[in-house]
Amino acid sequence: MINVLMVSPTLQGHLNPTLNFAKRLASKGVHVTLAIPEETPHRFQNLNTQKTNSHHHNNNPSKNQLEYFSDGLSIDHDRSKDPATFIASLETKGAENLSNLMTHLKKNDRSFSCLITSLFMPWSVDVAVSHGIPCAVLWPQASALFSIYYRYVCNANHFPNMENPNETLQLPSLPMLRVRELPSILLPSCPPYLKKLLMDFKPILDKVKWILGSSVYEFEEEILNSMASLRPILTIGPLVSPYLLGQKESEDSDDLTANLLRPEDSCLQWLNDKATSSVIYVAFGSLMEFSQKQMDNIATALKNTKKPFLWVITPQKGGAELPQGFLEEIKERGLVVTWCPQAKVLMHPAVACFVSHCGWNSTLEAVTAGIPIVALPNWLDQPTNAKLVEDVFKTGVRMRIGEEEDGVASAEEVERCITEVMEGPMAEEIKMRAVGLKEAARKAMLDGGSSDRNINRFVTEISGKFT
Ligand code: UDX
Repeated sequence: MINVLMVSPTLQGHLNPTLNFAKRLASKGVHVTLAIPEETPHRFQNLNTQKTNSHHHNNNPSKNQLEYFSDGLSIDHDRSKDPATFIASLETKGAENLSNLMTHLKKNDRSFSCLITSLFMPWSVDVAVSHGIPCAVLWPQASALFSIYYRYVCNANHFPNMENPNETLQLPSLPMLRVRELPSILLPSCPPYLKKLLMDFKPILDKVKWILGSSVYEFEEEILNSMASLRPILTIGPLVSPYLLGQKESEDSDDLTANLLRPEDSCLQWLNDKATSSVIYVAFGSLMEFSQKQMDNIATALKNTKKPFLWVITPQKGGAELPQGFLEEIKERGLVVTWCPQAKVLMHPAVACFVSHCGWNSTLEAVTAGIPIVALPNWLDQPTNAKLVEDVFKTGVRMRIGEEEDGVASAEEVERCITEVMEGPMAEEIKMRAVGLKEAARKAMLDGGSSDRNINRFVTEISGKFT
C-alpha cells in the first residue's frame, strides 16, 4: 500500500481542500496520514479529534489517520494576535516536531512515499528532504494566483510599480490586472511576515516535485497551458465538499470537515419555503471584517432589492453591527445567521446568486454549484479571484468601488450588481456559463476526467510504478 503524509496549517481555507484531497486519494487506495498542528481541533467546531493509534496500521484505505504535532506554543496562545511570532515558532519548533513525528511513525512501520504540504508551511519541504521523501505542494487557490506568484518571484515577467494601485499589468493568458487587483501579498502594504512567505516560495519550488492545484483544468485552461513550460500545475479539483459534486451526504464518521462555527441548519428549512432561484445568499468567509459603512450599505441594498436573502454574519471582535431595527424590518423575507452549511445552501434550488468576498473556497464552491457570483473582494487573493469570476469564468460580476469611496461599495453598487446577475441583460448568459462550468467540474472528477487523470498520474508517480 502507498502511504502519504499530508500536512496542513490551522486555516479552514487550507484544511478543507486537504481533507477533500485525502478522501480522493483514499478512494484510489492510497493510505493518508494527516499531520496537523495540535491546536487545530480546538479552533474548529466539528473536526473529528480522535487521534488514531500510530502503532497500528489502519488497513481500510478509506480511513484517514490524524496525527498532531506542536507548533511550540501553548494551545491557548492567541496566534492571531502576533502572527509573526506564531509563524517563526512554527518554522523552528513546528519543523522539529513534525520531523520527530515522522521518525516516530517510521519506527512504527509507517514510511511515506510522499509528503503533501502547503506553501504556508515552506519549512516542511526541508523536513521531507531531510527524511529523503519527495514532496508535493497542494495549492489551495486558483491556478491564476500560482501563475502570478511564480512569475513575480522567479522574475519571469516585468511587474509595474506596486506603489501605484492604478498601474496595469498584462501577464500571459491572464486578464489585464490593475495593481489593486493583484493579491495583496505582492503589495507594499503587506506585513513582513506574509512577505517572507512569498520570498520563501522560490527556493522551495526547486525542492518540490509536484504542484497539485485545487482548481479544474477546464476553468483555467489558457492560464494552465501558459504555465506548462514554466512550472506545470496538476489540477486535481474542484477540491470541495463531494456534496457540491452531486454526492449524497456522507454517513461516514471519518468524513472530516473543519467548520469555524456550528452551522445553523435551520436556514435550509427556511430556504425550502422560497421559490426556485429567488434567494440572494450573502457570506464573506471566515476572516472578513467589515467597516460599519460597508455593513450599512449591504443592509440598505438588500432591503432595496425587495428579494429574499440569507446573510451570514460571523461575529467579529469589535466588528460592525447591523443597523438598528434592520432585523425587524426584513423579518418577512430575510434571514441572518452566524454560520451556515454553505455547500448545502449553494446546492439549494431556491438560491439564485451568491454575494461573496471571493475567498477561493467560496469561489470554487459557487462555480462548482453553478451559482452566479456577485463579488465584493477585500484582500489576499480575493480581488484577483473577483477578476477571474468576471473575466475568465464569466459567472458573475464585480462591484466597482470609486477612489473617493475608501474601499467601500455603495448601496447602489451592491444593488446594481445583484440586479445584473439576477435579471439584467447579461443574467441569462451568466447563468448558462455557470451551469456549463458546473458540468465541467463534475466531468473533471469522473473516471477519465482531467482531474481524475492527474490524480492517477500523481499516484502512479509516487508509487514508482511507471507505465
Ligand atoms: C481565506 C482567505 O480569506 C481567502 O482569500 C483564501 O482564498 C482562503 O483563505 P476565507 O476568508 O475563510 O479564506 O474564505 P473561503 O476561502 O471562501 O473559505 C470559507 C469557507 O467557509 C468555505 O469553504 C465556505 O463553504 C465555508 N463557510 C463560510 C461555511 O461553511 N459557512 C458559512 O456560513 C460561511
